[in-house]
Amino acid sequence: MDAVANPYAPGAGRTPAALVGRDRQREAWRVGLDRVERGRTAQPVVLYGLRGVGKTVLLSSFRTAAAQRGWVVAQVEAGAGSGPAAGGAGLRGAVGEALHAPLVDRARPSAGRRLLAALRTALSFKASYDTAGTWNFGVDLGEVGGGGADTGVLEADLAKLVRDVAAGAAEDGGGLALLVDEAQDATPAELAALCAVAHAAGQQDWPVLVALAGLPSLPRVLAEAKSYAERLFVYERIEQLTPDAAVEALVAPAVAEGVHWTDGAVELVVAATGGYPYFLQQFGQECWNEAQGDTIAHADARVGAARGRAALDDGFFRSRWDRATGAEQAYLRAMAADGDAGTPSGEVAARLGRKVASLGPARASLIAKGLVYAPEHGVVAFTVPGMADFIERQPAG
Ligand SMILES: Nc1ncnc2c1ncn2[C@@H]1O[C@H](COP(=O)(O)OP(=O)(O)O)[C@@H](O)[C@H]1O
Ligand SMILES: [Mg+2]
Repeated sequence: MDAVANPYAPGAGRTPAALVGRDRQREAWRVGLDRVERGRTAQPVVLYGLRGVGKTVLLSSFRTAAAQRGWVVAQVEAGAGSGPAAGGAGLRGAVGEALHAPLVDRARPSAGRRLLAALRTALSFKASYDTAGTWNFGVDLGEVGGGGADTGVLEADLAKLVRDVAAGAAEDGGGLALLVDEAQDATPAELAALCAVAHAAGQQDWPVLVALAGLPSLPRVLAEAKSYAERLFVYERIEQLTPDAAVEALVAPAVAEGVHWTDGAVELVVAATGGYPYFLQQFGQECWNEAQGDTIAHADARVGAARGRAALDDGFFRSRWDRATGAEQAYLRAMAADGDAGTPSGEVAARLGRKVASLGPARASLIAKGLVYAPEHGVVAFTVPGMADFIERQPAG
């Protein structure tokens, strides 16, 4: 079938044609937006799960919902800001830069007093991580108050920024939505600051909604950063889709294009993907390309599933495997015997005939590369479903 019209969207963060099975979380977000607009507060939320289950696209749907109501939205990725491209300013720089465009959009001389103060605060925040660059909002901020988000203490500066920007946004009836993806990659100080800001927002009635997304280790690292984190957030585990939702993820995008899946074809693909959103998109794409006319039949699904598997092996899994050094691959192999469930680090060491401490660097590097995570202390697990299977299919190097 016409590849140009192919509605499936495999790839990190790519918005699916049909975002299914997440109604509860999206409804809760909508209620949060409503509450804040009516002067109440809403609990911050943590979305956690393996790679490829749809955390980023869910977070983006939160962003869209907030932006459609005219909220100021900052969606950032933790860890990304530590690279040279972001000036090494980490979460501080990422949040600051994400707010620039929405603030520019609202900056005009007729803006309310609070919005103008927020601009001043944003300028001071910018100066706290970027001494060379500055922003010009094109309005006179001589007498407006604000500022002071440049003490260098992240918790204090971020709180001031969030408070003032939220107050400015609320002048238009909205608020500020702060969305942090890959939050497990934030430093302990950044996580502590995020918790402190979310906590202050709830206690002091700031018009702010916070959502964090990350790997299954995120609830644990948050609790380590601030002991009250356990009670602060609503924790939502994001997992593979239920069979019904998986069917919808395949069928709905096709129906919209006038294409029909036979029952047998859908069943085959749902079973082959285990309902993992990334895999559904990949397999759906291959099945579509395989089919002729306007029906995806069982035979198409069989070929499409085989091609989907090959595409995952060549891309999704292979790219991760190739990122690991020889020593790290040996570590991953030793884990693979346990499937996706996770393995005690001591067990990995025993299988490799090594001391646990001597494998610390390999383990730390694999975590930094996003290939494994620690579901609990002393345990390692793969960050993507099906990685163990893939590794067992690889010829020994
Ligand atoms: N609820 C969903 N329904 C259908 N497809 C989805 C859903 N969530 C995610 N996807 C698809 O799965 C893939 C991975 O999504 P992404 O948000 O990047 O996952 P994560 O952030 O958890 O790694 C993308 O191709 C996306 O289109
Ligand atoms: Mg993601």
